[in-house]
Amino acid sequence: MSDFFQHVNKPAETDCDSLVLAVAQGEDGPHLLPCSLSTEMSQELASLLPLLGMSGKVDEVCVSTAPSRLATRTLTFVGLGKHNFGDAQAVRRAAGCVTRTSKAKTLAFDWAITDEGVWQALAEGAGFGAYRYDRYFSKKADRIESVLLPDSEAARKGAKTAEVLVSAANLTRDLVNTPANDLCPADFVEIAKRECEGLPIEIEVWDFARLQKEKCGGLVGVGQGSSRPPYLVKLSYQPQGAKRHAALIGKGITFDSGGISLKPAANMEAMKSDMTGAATVLGATIAAARLEVPQQITTYLALAENLPGGKAQRPSDVITIRNGKTVEILNTDAEGRLVMADALSLACEIKPDVILDVATLTGAQIVALGNRTTGLMGQGGAPEEVFKAAERVGEPAWVMPIPEELKEANASKFADVANSGGRNAGMMVAADFLSNFVDDFPWAHLDIAGPSYNSGKPWGFSAYGGTGVMVRTLVDYLANLK
Ligand code: BES
Ligand code: MN
Ligand code: ZN
Repeated sequence: MSDFFQHVNKPAETDCDSLVLAVAQGEDGPHLLPCSLSTEMSQELASLLPLLGMSGKVDEVCVSTAPSRLATRTLTFVGLGKHNFGDAQAVRRAAGCVTRTSKAKTLAFDWAITDEGVWQALAEGAGFGAYRYDRYFSKKADRIESVLLPDSEAARKGAKTAEVLVSAANLTRDLVNTPANDLCPADFVEIAKRECEGLPIEIEVWDFARLQKEKCGGLVGVGQGSSRPPYLVKLSYQPQGAKRHAALIGKGITFDSGGISLKPAANMEAMKSDMTGAATVLGATIAAARLEVPQQITTYLALAENLPGGKAQRPSDVITIRNGKTVEILNTDAEGRLVMADALSLACEIKPDVILDVATLTGAQIVALGNRTTGLMGQGGAPEEVFKAAERVGEPAWVMPIPEELKEANASKFADVANSGGRNAGMMVAADFLSNFVDDFPWAHLDIAGPSYNSGKPWGFSAYGGTGVMVRTLVDYLANLK
């Protein structure tokens, strides 16, 4: 996607398929927001808005033919809601809505934006929205070939940063959308190796024998039910003069059937996305390295396939996690916390300044916060800092507690803890389980079960399937880590 954004002197006067114009929802009707067209032309186009049925509301897009005096063949009007170019979130979403729905090959944005951060948001939206996952279609999707932006320094710098974030998050989305027959733990390892090639990221891989030797009982226990074995991947990015060291951990269940505690058939196909945490921290690590974030980052991908094969673990099994704690398996479908427990224990061993983990951990996250808001939990101020980063980049998130009384829910009659603890507050009970494996380090746990995967209507820049959520939040958090 390196030449996706092209900078030209006057996008509005350059030959293209569609010139994109922003419309705000005013008290007295739609308002055409400023662009570089002449005043007469702008007035003429503004007078069309009511005829086109444009009100300016969010996610409203309308395409019309362009007056022949213009260099573009069509005009794409997009709603910004009750916002203007001062609002980066509204700009990102509008640009994304355009590229997600547009049939044009070349699009021009000539909006009166001066701020680099807002140009970055526009380019992020455009890049996310242009994503198409057509790997398995015989007829490939039409793709946007280029997005024309002004030649200003703000637009150039903003688009440059955006390009890195977009390609990282779209890698995450590719991994999420890939079905498990083409993405088992070993495939994930190969892709991680390939994507880190040429970047200042070291990669170490533990296979099944090594995981057994290293006493990673969670990865072994979950992975043993599949003929396609589990792996642990460690990525190290260590820039010179790094002040802080963050450990990132991602849940990488390439398919979650539930195991012996089998899931119902309905919607099980979405469980190909149960590796989103691993894909998210991989994307964030790559983006951080490409943007030369001045922090040391050690990333763990906990990769396994949760299947009920002949060697699968059973309810009642007791396993031992890397840090020596024992876990009684009450439900083999609560597998994410088991592989995360090993990876969290390993992260503690390197004594980082902060630990962040990302996981599609619980259906209860969706019950509590819905499909767009990430659940943040943890200790030592880390969840609050992640919340601030999420707000800065416009990704919805909310800090939730880990109430002390939930410890009881994870109590076991036969081991140190049990892996499943009833229906109430399931998201926080899972977080409490993880807290057994993070010592006293500042720690943020991001439960992205809902936001990771759009299984409803497309909206903003999000198509059906993987969303790439939290990649931008993590990178922003790391860049601002003090
Ligand atoms: N991967 C699921 C959680 C999930 C559910 C993610 C729906 C995305 C959408 C996880 O492994 C799981 O199965 N969790 C169980 C835990 C329970 C058995 C304690 C759940 O949430 O039902
Ligand atoms: Mn599960
Ligand atoms: Zn799972």
